[in-house]
Amino acid sequence: MSLTDTILRSRAVAALTSPHGVDRYLEQVHPMWAAHEVRARIVDVHREVDVPGHPAVATITVQPTSTWRGHRAGQHVALGIEIDGARRTTRVFSVSSPESRPGDRITITLRANPAAPDGQGVSRHLVERAEPGTMVHLSQAEGDFVLPDRVPEHVLLISGGSGITPVMSMLRSLQRRTHRGRVTFVHYSRSPEHQIFAAELDDVRRSGHGIDVHLFHPELGDPALSAARLERLVPGYREVPTWACGPAPLVEAVRAGYDGSDALRVEYFQPPRTTVTGVGDVSFARSGLAAANSGAPLLEQAEALGLTPASGCRMGICLSCVSRKTEGTVRNVVTGEESSLPDEDIRICVSAPVGDCVVDL
Ligand SMILES: Cc1cc2nc3c(=O)[nH]c(=O)nc-3n(C[C@H](O)[C@H](O)[C@H](O)COP(=O)(O)OP(=O)(O)OC[C@H]3O[C@@H](n4cnc5c(N)ncnc54)[C@H](O)[C@@H]3O)c2cc1C
Ligand code: FES
Repeated sequence: MSLTDTILRSRAVAALTSPHGVDRYLEQVHPMWAAHEVRARIVDVHREVDVPGHPAVATITVQPTSTWRGHRAGQHVALGIEIDGARRTTRVFSVSSPESRPGDRITITLRANPAAPDGQGVSRHLVERAEPGTMVHLSQAEGDFVLPDRVPEHVLLISGGSGITPVMSMLRSLQRRTHRGRVTFVHYSRSPEHQIFAAELDDVRRSGHGIDVHLFHPELGDPALSAARLERLVPGYREVPTWACGPAPLVEAVRAGYDGSDALRVEYFQPPRTTVTGVGDVSFARSGLAAANSGAPLLEQAEALGLTPASGCRMGICLSCVSRKTEGTVRNVVTGEESSLPDEDIRICVSAPVGDCVVDL
């Protein structure tokens, strides 16, 4: 760390610049100067997939400020952007470029999600309107869906749709590390026109180097992922260290096929679908609204009643949705853990009520 960095991050400078903090002042002087927070300038926007009538997919390359600490393949960042002067909105995106170090450019690859009626449509805004020069806010990289430092001899990467991004970062990192073992890359996309990174994956397939690429397209009649299909592709796959990411039905099919094997790690972009039928009632005390418990996470149940609680990642990562549960038991739909503590702050995007529940909303 340079002397300037040490001074800028010192307590004395923090006290002098309180309450705004040194980064607010540095940002005024130059948008790429920062002492603590991470900002990034968009340097390139590249359309990956553009099928008329379907959401486009783009890769955005950003140059982070010197405060970026790098990322491990498979990690994600929270990206914040002010759309049309509104308050900053944050969404979480996996880094699609290979593992990075401080100072490196990184990429995120995103599908322009059709915005919800009251949603912010961050992905759509970025895919359709982001331009080189636009500044965005980033978190440091987070998440434990990562390749270990000592890479196993055989690695199986399974993905679907835009869930390809973290495993693409892994594949690219393994290529960069000149991994000598075997890699099996399995990806599902609607059709060849919807295939993200098609040209690069074609090159990888042709060059061999111990990487088997299997691309499946249900619109061309390829059958859905199943245990039998995985066994044909990778005999004994349940013992092979595997990373899987994609739409909830695909991840759930993979989980079923691994039958609890600890060789499998999964990443969700959206909470897994609720299979538990709700019992009891859910009440939102401040607004005086109540309904029968549908079994869905509390955020969805609140929105179904017309409430608009703050939310960001909708996956339990950003803490924007934390609200106080005053009564009842909730189950974390990602981890399955239950909690019955009264007067507890919970992330309502991933907390589904188990029976009667009261939330201060
Ligand atoms: C770990 C992780 C990594 C991710 N990585 C990627 C990636 O690499 N690429 C990628 O494309 N995406 C990724 N995502 C998904 C991404 O974070 C966003 O969820 C996605 O881009 C949609 O955000 P949006 O602002 O465009 O849409 P929004 O407008 O927020 O809508 C998204 C969905 O939220 C619901 N919703 C939002 N607001 C409301 C409301 N008021 N009422 C009712 N429903 C509502 C709807 O179901 C809607 O379809 C990742 C997510 C996670 C958790
Ligand atoms: S919306 Fe991010 S933690 Fe709930």
